[in-house]
Amino acid sequence: MDHVLSDLVARDSLPPSLSVVAPACDDASTGAVASPCAKAIRKVSVCGLGKLGACIAATMAARGLEVVGVDIDQEKVRKINDGLPPLDEPLLAETIRDGRSRLRATLDPRETVATDATFFITPSPSSPDGSFSNEFLLQAMQAVARAMKAAGKRNHLFVCSSTTTPGAMDAVLIPMLERELGGICGQDFSVCYNPEFIALGDVVNGLLEPDLVLIGESDPHGGAALEQLYKTYNRNAPLIARMSIVSAELAKISLNSYITMKISFTNQLRLIAARYPRADVHAILDALGTDSRIGRKYLRAGLSYGGPCFPRDNRLLAYTARQVGLEAPLADASDRVNEQTKRNLVETVQEMASPGDTVAVLGVTYKPGTYITEEAAGLFLAQQLQRHGYRVLVHDFAATPANAPGLRGFELILDWEEFRNNPRVKLAVVCCPWPQYRGLATTMNTKVFAPWQR
Ligand SMILES: NC(=O)c1ccc[n+]([C@@H]2O[C@H](COP(=O)([O-])OP(=O)(O)OC[C@H]3O[C@@H](n4cnc5c(N)ncnc54)[C@H](O)[C@@H]3O)[C@@H](O)[C@H]2O)c1
Repeated sequence: MDHVLSDLVARDSLPPSLSVVAPACDDASTGAVASPCAKAIRKVSVCGLGKLGACIAATMAARGLEVVGVDIDQEKVRKINDGLPPLDEPLLAETIRDGRSRLRATLDPRETVATDATFFITPSPSSPDGSFSNEFLLQAMQAVARAMKAAGKRNHLFVCSSTTTPGAMDAVLIPMLERELGGICGQDFSVCYNPEFIALGDVVNGLLEPDLVLIGESDPHGGAALEQLYKTYNRNAPLIARMSIVSAELAKISLNSYITMKISFTNQLRLIAARYPRADVHAILDALGTDSRIGRKYLRAGLSYGGPCFPRDNRLLAYTARQVGLEAPLADASDRVNEQTKRNLVETVQEMASPGDTVAVLGVTYKPGTYITEEAAGLFLAQQLQRHGYRVLVHDFAATPANAPGLRGFELILDWEEFRNNPRVKLAVVCCPWPQYRGLATTMNTKVFAPWQR
């Protein structure tokens, strides 16, 4: 395991500050030795007001906590302070309105000092080898740690909600905090790893009513304080699973990797069944889903998985296995089947239309309800068809060239009526099951291919 840790440390360490390790923490007001983070959390700071962080900040304020959001993006800070959503996400605007009197934002990480806990939800981009970079987390956590140190604040709770490479918290991020704060984790301050399992397009409800709250904790006081917070923050009563930090890091990506395995199993079955003219994949999946050991979720014949989490988390699990000298054949296979599913879509469309034909790609986001096109089947199809000499028209209900730069260079369908009656469109392919596309085949004058529909 040592080589894993040294690899993580070598790649992501920031230069240590000049601070020295301090003795055990004490309570500034009484002089008594205090347990870290033993107090109830009433005021929180949220570092990173992006797709997830803005929703965390807004929902916490709406649920009664005092919240200060911190970001390096001036525009996001301004919008939150104006009571506006910094990005498009259903229910975010209403939630910000609900908690407006308790929510504000700043560019200054020193404002975290007056809060009981800081949630970090900065980007953690994938590296080519599948690992996640610690760069943004290090910068954000270091700034907060320095502010705490300068103010003489002790017993702060640092909560990491960004996805990390398993082992990174113990090997890189906590040692950095100990250096900066001049203290010992679990004694002078607490750290929790607390990822969220949300789906873009339904983040607000996903945060407030999750199936599971996952807490990795450096010490029982930190975990207990966070558990207590969730007991009033959640609208439902989810399972609160507390464990070591590295267990939670592994659990986060394993959950998503398991779902990708289920999706790829479904797609593999769909490709096999397609070779049997009398096989009906929907009937097969309906039958399988009734078995309670399997369940119906994700047993729906469709297209490849995409988005910012599933593909990356699954590859991260494979990377994590390699780091300890193992293979992760199931994770690798999910990835391979996903690529095969994408190629199969392109080949199927190429059998239905020829280069030079006009093909409309409808739905280029990775799922309905979001503008994100990352690793989406529709965007992949549009790019491949364009590369092979087709004239490609693109339509989506949320993605635009402004919020999804991958769409630049494509002809957009802006007038739906004109499109429906355009005789030059040889084929329309529904790549994302936005409900508005339902029943399209009956109203179009052109051929519609909708892999999502029965
Ligand atoms: N988006 C999802 O569906 C989703 C789901 C689960 C987990 N995650 C994880 O959550 C994390 C954040 O994802 P996201 O989609 O919200 O990212 P995002 O890119 O939408 O937002 C990140 C925000 O962090 C800000 N930021 C960067 N450096 C900062 C710093 N030093 N201090 C303060 N703010 C800083 C950015 O300006 C941005 O506003 C990632 O680790 C991601 O893997 C995302």
